[in-house]
Amino acid sequence: MAFSDQFIQELKLNNPIDSVMSGYTNLIRRGRNSVCLCPFHSEKTPSCTVYHESNSFYCFGCGAGGDVITFVMKIENLDYVEAIRFLAARAGMTMPDDDPADSRNALIKSKILEINRTAARYFYDVLTRAPEGEKGRRYFADRQLSAKTITKYGLGYAPGDWYGLTNFMRSKGYGEEELIAADLCSRGRNGGLYDRFRDRVMFPIIDLRGNVIAFGGRVIDDGKPKYLNSSDTPVFKKSMNLFSLNFAKKSEEKRLILAEGYMDVISINQAGFENVVATLGTALTQEQARLMSRYAEEIIIAYDSDGAGQKATHKAINLLSEAGLKTRIIKMEGAKDPDEYIKKFGAMRFGQLLNKSGGAIEFELSKCRNGLDISTDEGRVEYLKRCVKLFADISSPIEREVYIGRVSDETKVSKEMLFQQVNGAIKKRIDQDKKREWTDIRTFQNELRKDPDAYRHSKEYKAETGILSFLAAYPEETEYVASKISPDDFVTDFNKKVYAAILKKSKISGFYDILSLQSEFTADEMGKITEIAVNSKDVNINKTAVNDFIKFLTDRADNSQDVNALSDDDFRSYFSGLKKKK
Ligand code: GTP
Ligand code: MN
Repeated sequence: MAFSDQFIQELKLNNPIDSVMSGYTNLIRRGRNSVCLCPFHSEKTPSCTVYHESNSFYCFGCGAGGDVITFVMKIENLDYVEAIRFLAARAGMTMPDDDPADSRNALIKSKILEINRTAARYFYDVLTRAPEGEKGRRYFADRQLSAKTITKYGLGYAPGDWYGLTNFMRSKGYGEEELIAADLCSRGRNGGLYDRFRDRVMFPIIDLRGNVIAFGGRVIDDGKPKYLNSSDTPVFKKSMNLFSLNFAKKSEEKRLILAEGYMDVISINQAGFENVVATLGTALTQEQARLMSRYAEEIIIAYDSDGAGQKATHKAINLLSEAGLKTRIIKMEGAKDPDEYIKKFGAMRFGQLLNKSGGAIEFELSKCRNGLDISTDEGRVEYLKRCVKLFADISSPIEREVYIGRVSDETKVSKEMLFQQVNGAIKKRIDQDKKREWTDIRTFQNELRKDPDAYRHSKEYKAETGILSFLAAYPEETEYVASKISPDDFVTDFNKKVYAAILKKSKISGFYDILSLQSEFTADEMGKITEIAVNSKDVNINKTAVNDFIKFLTDRADNSQDVNALSDDDFRSYFSGLKKKK
């Protein structure tokens, strides 16, 4: 849909790119610009630049770039309109009236949300007052949930007959298709609808705005599957949400507790720790780690104490660190999960457990000892090997020294020896990283070379890029350039498309920003366009150069023989400025 330029400008003004981006990565000020580790590819040295003046970013490593809208499209995986809506909500702006296709989409979404809310109410009512809710009431009583907690989380019970919810929703006038879209009903072989959740206690999943976006349902006995969760629907993406974040975000705490199960979260919350969340029946994702980093600096992982829980802990530590979060890990003894721990030992002891939780290194170190008998030489050697590998990954030298000291005391192997080993391992790793980063860059350059158009017409490509760079820097010259050269004189397809889009935009609004062409280009293409705009800052293309570029392209169109007549040297003098970078 089309938004007015005024709206887009205001939207960007209210969402400065640095403040949006700093929700995802750490910006470091460097003079007029900032740099950061690129959130779109893995790197150890920052190659992503944020240009405060033009409110844009560009990554020299992977070629991602654009304005704040493109950034949000890419990082939140949204389409153009959704990204605008996201930023409007972030800035508290009202969206202009949507076009029919969007509003149909929005209508479906709001319908599903309404259905979910009504269903949650139904499950809650059954649990709290209907005769058939007795089984659910007994279950939660057994698990020692208070009435207050049940109300707070809006827990419920889905009765065992196949049509409880279906009939209720029908009586409220909801249609079959919408009930299926909400994933609350399924269609049977005979064509009729039946309840998807039966004889289960129900956990509504609530987003940050207080919408019920999905449900988890747990069996009461030992049936299978233990949990049934809503599939992804237009309003729900498992990988992007966290259970109980709606409560946790209100906590003053700068740290979040991450548990494995819904029941753990509820137990921990009931014990007085509001700042607890869990994933929704899947392993932790990158999106969820980033989401947490918006609300906390540190995550205390409180997964189950069994093997699976510990494996998941190891994975979570890595994902969370990548999102820039510090991690601590609780060490639970005498209970399989936080829920059981709190029941056995009480809220206070659990609080102590949180405060005693060790850092990631502590956790990994105790894992190194797993399965080894370090009183034997063999066991000690293996243990030391694992430790050296672990220490090589510690970035802080002080921390490294502390742990080396500890392991040296423990194994009676000299500190010097350990340092030597660790330094060797670090050097090896740095070399590997360097190699990898080079491969990344080379792959990227090869990608460029693979653009056959640009390769075959490299001279034209450079001339065109020069013109576009000039327009990016001096949009007020658009009319002049437009009078001299038409898109048809452009040879390479992509540049032609960009130039045509610029002309169109400037004709419509008399104004354009080269970074605001999202409605016609994908986020990746916006990266290429940003590269052009960034170039215009680095190489100062003046009007004389542009006239030469134009002449080169239009002459070529008049008489393509001329191109070949032009010597490489002549050509190079046209573009002398373009080559030098930064
Ligand atoms: P209790 O065993 O009742 O204490 O529940 P719990 O919430 O602690 O569950 P558990 O530790 O078994 O599992 C942790 C989380 O994994 C659950 O909260 C669910 O999100 C998810 N999960 C467990 N079993 C299943 C299953 O069968 N299917 C799916 N999709 N997810 C499951
Ligand atoms: Mn559990």
